[in-house]
Amino acid sequence: MKTMKNIDSYGHVRGESLFVDDVIVRQDTLYGLVFDAPKAHGKIISVDYSEAEKVEGVVKIFTYKDIKGENQIGGILPDEPLWAEDEIHFWGQPIAFIVATSEAIAKKARLLIKIEIDELPVITTAKEAKEKGSFINAPRSFNLGNTTASFEECDYVFEGETFSNGQEHLYLETQGCYAIPQENGNIKLISSTQGPTSVQQITARVLGVPMHKIEIDVTRLGGGFGGKEDQATPWAVMAAVAVQHLKKPVKHILNRHDDLRMTGKRHPYESTFKIGLNKDFKIMAFEAEFLQNSGAAADLSPAIAERTLFHATNSYFVPNVKTKVFSCKTNLPPNTAFRGFGGPQGMFVIESAIAQAADKIGVEKRLIQEANLLSENDEFSYGQIATQVEAKNSWIAAKSKFELEKLEQEVHGFNRENNQFKKGISVMPICFGISFTNTSMNHARALIHIYQDGSVGVSTGAVEMGQSVNTKMLQVAAETLGIHPSKVKLETTNTTRVANTSPSAASSTADLNGKAVLMACNSLIGRLKKVVSKMLSVDISFVSFQNDTVFVENKKSNLLWEDVVAQAMLKRVALSENAHYATPIIHFDKTKEKGHPFAYHVYGTAISTVTVDCLRGTYEIDAVKIVHDFGNSMNIGIDIGQVEGALAQGIGWMTLEEIAYSEDGRLLSNALSTYKVPDVFSGPNTIDVIPLETEGHELAIQKSKAVGEPPLMYGIGTYFAIQNAVKAFNKSYIPKFNSPFTPEKVLMALYQK
Ligand code: MTE
Ligand code: HPA
Ligand code: MOS
Repeated sequence: MKTMKNIDSYGHVRGESLFVDDVIVRQDTLYGLVFDAPKAHGKIISVDYSEAEKVEGVVKIFTYKDIKGENQIGGILPDEPLWAEDEIHFWGQPIAFIVATSEAIAKKARLLIKIEIDELPVITTAKEAKEKGSFINAPRSFNLGNTTASFEECDYVFEGETFSNGQEHLYLETQGCYAIPQENGNIKLISSTQGPTSVQQITARVLGVPMHKIEIDVTRLGGGFGGKEDQATPWAVMAAVAVQHLKKPVKHILNRHDDLRMTGKRHPYESTFKIGLNKDFKIMAFEAEFLQNSGAAADLSPAIAERTLFHATNSYFVPNVKTKVFSCKTNLPPNTAFRGFGGPQGMFVIESAIAQAADKIGVEKRLIQEANLLSENDEFSYGQIATQVEAKNSWIAAKSKFELEKLEQEVHGFNRENNQFKKGISVMPICFGISFTNTSMNHARALIHIYQDGSVGVSTGAVEMGQSVNTKMLQVAAETLGIHPSKVKLETTNTTRVANTSPSAASSTADLNGKAVLMACNSLIGRLKKVVSKMLSVDISFVSFQNDTVFVENKKSNLLWEDVVAQAMLKRVALSENAHYATPIIHFDKTKEKGHPFAYHVYGTAISTVTVDCLRGTYEIDAVKIVHDFGNSMNIGIDIGQVEGALAQGIGWMTLEEIAYSEDGRLLSNALSTYKVPDVFSGPNTIDVIPLETEGHELAIQKSKAVGEPPLMYGIGTYFAIQNAVKAFNKSYIPKFNSPFTPEKVLMALYQK
């Protein structure tokens, strides 16, 4: 089963898989479109809907006045209205919702809405927000040892600053929802969300109804990448408000331009660092201050800021650490979860600090990296003790399997012989904590039905978004029940079958939901074994199920799975089971900022090589060679796919994808003509992924470690490989840490005097 294909691949390739826009709509369906703020900050003096309302086919234009419950969609903090009331805080902020008989009519009406705004000053950068005291919440700080005392004893101390830009999720399927009225005022929402329960909870709050009146159903997402953890909610809530009033189905799918303009992205970070080392390159002290550009409302920013602190020392042991993060309130759309969840932003800073130190001392960056990799029982700044550490193992494996020293010599040799083209190489170790950093979110449930013909239906809280979690759930069910995978069906994710779910996020979906599936299946198997024990008059401990057959003392019997299920029915044995799993061990005390927040860590090491065209500033990524800690992968094809996809996204973030807002807060990179995402030409020419040989971790499902986010951070290596190529060409280049390293920036660096 470890080589099983993604169960969606056949449907995807044939175009048969269903997404929200593919749902067959009722004949009386209406269509919704958001009217959003055309300025980034100001007081609304007036909005005139009269011309828009006259357009034939416009049914109703909804505003905050039509809300029967609370005009509040904030998740962590209650600071975000569904529709603006008298002030707007970002360009693209929803103000009203036009519902019409077609999308085209709604679009026509939107152009006729007149709004008068008394403009207020606009903040677009985190630094400016900090200067003006504009914050989402209080700053957070993690401390270990004593940095001040340590710096005094260091042989080298360096300071610097970094910037990493935001990133557009660009899920193929834009945000959307189809809302259908049910009887008695109940509403069903077919939503493209990573967090069905958040959609349910916030819809109930805004509509002023109990949660049980709202049902969320999710078949799959055409990608989420964190962009649908919190930000799938408002579009569904708007459609639900319209259904509550009109009692007709409302379809609300954002077009790409609206989606790009109205939704938040990865947080840009402006950061400063101070790093202290001794003569043998041991990092003795590290300080960093992170300014997170949170946008106009909290969204998930406080949790993302926290994860930045958790990953601020990447896979290095640093005995003295002082890190602080400010969530800075600006007039951009609220920035949100994006693969890595603030971790990548933190890791870019320490990698920059090490690069700066290496440059100033005049050694290879990798020698400093290598001297500081985590060992068993090292303490993280947040108090967790590192165990089953694979930092050195993966580094050593990458170094030997990919012949790092030979690769370095090739690069140096190439650079001696070439003037127009220069090569660069870098090594990037990663360490990523698995679990929601908010301990209380680490739980999941599964509901399993064995139908009387022996076929099985599995419901969990997991949302399939391309990461293949459904395939993994199917593997767990089929293996635990001892039946062929074709007997198992994965049901849609539905709040009436599995309630109170955490979003599918934090790379933990397969672990959490998989453990629940395992528990439920084990309970069912326990019951069926009892049935067999009576049928065959054998001791229950001798019974097992394999290959759709009963085995007694590991010998095949004539009794089939179906026979046992049929007998269980006759004997009135329950063939359904619900199980609840909550990660053991983890805890975190926010008053002390210490604890054991992660079930385990994922490690790995990537070697990146690039070639820079020093005439044009363009570059090619020759190869990325990775040794990755999958634990004991339960499906290596799927997991390598996750590594490759995450790597591409990481490289895009570090090299090409440049979010740009004008000074007055308008998104300039508002189309694929102005926002460059990685394609086959900008990806690495070769990607090698070798699994690190390890046992895996007990808290990982089937000891197969979480894989969704960690490999994104291999992309950070590309930045430093390019930087090394630039250094080979321009001896007077002073390294800057300002990503993405676009060809324009590379060109300027090549010729910087
Ligand atoms: N892979 C695909 N194809 N599509 C996605 O949207 N999201 C990523 C990652 N891999 C994503 C993906 C993110 S942000 C997370 S947190 C994990 O998948 C979530 O799924 P998991 O918990 O099952 O790994
Ligand atoms: N990761 C992803 N999503 C989250 C987290 C996290 O740690 N915490 C809350 N939402
Ligand atoms: Mo992923 S950013 O935790 O959805």
